[in-house]
Amino acid sequence: WQSQGKNIPQKRHDQTVKTSKLFLPPSRPTALLSTLLIHHPQYAWLQELGFREENAGVYNGNWRGGGERGEIVRKIGDALREKIQILGKLVSLEMGKILVEGIGEVQEYVDICDYAAGLSRMIGGPILPSERPGHALIEQWNPLGLVGIITAFNFPVAVFGWNNAIALITGNVCIWKGAPTTSLVSIAVTKIVAKVLEDNDLPGAICSLTCGGADIGTAMAKDARVNLLSFTGSTQVGKQVALMVQERFGKSLLELGGNNAIIAFEDADLSLVLPSALFAAVGTAGQRCTSVRRLFLHERIHEEVVQRLKSACSQIHVGNPWDPNILYGPLHTKNAVKMFVGAVEEAKKEGGTVVYGGKVMDHPDNYVEPTIVTGLPHDAPIVHTETFAPILYVFKFKTEEEVFAWNNEVKQGLSSSIFTKDLGRIFRWLGPKGSDCGIVNVNIPTSGAEIGGAFGGEKHTGGGRESGSDAWKQYMRRSTCTINYSTNLPLAQGIKFE
Ligand code: UN1
Repeated sequence: WQSQGKNIPQKRHDQTVKTSKLFLPPSRPTALLSTLLIHHPQYAWLQELGFREENAGVYNGNWRGGGERGEIVRKIGDALREKIQILGKLVSLEMGKILVEGIGEVQEYVDICDYAAGLSRMIGGPILPSERPGHALIEQWNPLGLVGIITAFNFPVAVFGWNNAIALITGNVCIWKGAPTTSLVSIAVTKIVAKVLEDNDLPGAICSLTCGGADIGTAMAKDARVNLLSFTGSTQVGKQVALMVQERFGKSLLELGGNNAIIAFEDADLSLVLPSALFAAVGTAGQRCTSVRRLFLHERIHEEVVQRLKSACSQIHVGNPWDPNILYGPLHTKNAVKMFVGAVEEAKKEGGTVVYGGKVMDHPDNYVEPTIVTGLPHDAPIVHTETFAPILYVFKFKTEEEVFAWNNEVKQGLSSSIFTKDLGRIFRWLGPKGSDCGIVNVNIPTSGAEIGGAFGGEKHTGGGRESGSDAWKQYMRRSTCTINYSTNLPLAQGIKFE
């Protein structure tokens, strides 16, 4: 697997043991089978995703086969294309996001596979001039080995996809732990990937899966065999993971919390601001790490935008996320509903006014109202806390200087957007005194990044970059190689040692 070329001999084990009984749970009594989703006619489509009564966890395959890594990743993309609707449907069922967003995140995996297939032919290091005659200085990149990937419930496909596609084309193997509440999606994705590997005479173990909670995450963080641990989740857990990995001098790639802001200046095109703020605040029911939490409006447009935003919220179709007319579904868990209620209470205590929403909906599932809060100080403690729910805090500002400072005053540094037509302001926003985030947008929402750019943020967001640009470098180790092709031995810095 570590070789990019075709037909390179690999270690071969002839004994094929695909599923060892050792790894399977004891057989279930037949009476219990009826409780399995796959036996309900309504969920029979799950079998198309490869679900059976028992689904092996960590793949017990053999290491064998060869092949071109980019080509394998391209085929994974093709296999995902075939299943995009049905896998998107499962994401929607298990995570609770609306169907188009479920399909959209499978599309991100497809896109990164295309990207990675091309990138696999472009991985390279520079040849640098050497100060020593007859010497060449080159940079060589090699795989790290095993990449551990821990993902969150909110993007149960895309975030794995970014890591998996890039880790594979850089020559690594992966072990994935998805969120405990989205294990069906993890299993379905792994089955799709494993089939491509097997069809190409490669072991499915190249992309292994483990389902579980914090105990498994801790084991991955502490295990020195995991050369890189890519973790997506809260800042609090991410910090513990980072410390455990650092303890053993492993590498970590962190994509943690955000506290993202949209700033709309007085010259902003409101026909862009309104749908952007709405999508970023209410899309995925506020459960993206890129969701907008803080909306800073210039005092001249504050009133109008708040009114129009309220009216937009009231027109959002709420309901079953599978229904194509629905834009807004439930929160993922009962606990998320509790966090929502707690944050709204706290916002009121700290002086905020709920101008829209604020309540749990009268519905058996986890639906809460999209919520707009005004009147809080920009540095109120609740404003500086990321709540993974559709609550938007709205503020009034006067000057560019103060609002850029407010954008940067939170601990997190993931995503940020301004709305303006002023070219000077746009470049100040991108520059050293502008946004300190990893994602710095102009006239678009904070969420909905494309895969071609590096994705991630600064400060308590963890500093990692996944997906596009040169994020691949984090999945490889760099060697600086100096080669003497002369018959002399000149030393660097002109040192004479004679
Ligand atoms: C996340 O919420 O962890 O930019 C990822 C976006 C998506 C990815 C979000 N492409 O909103």
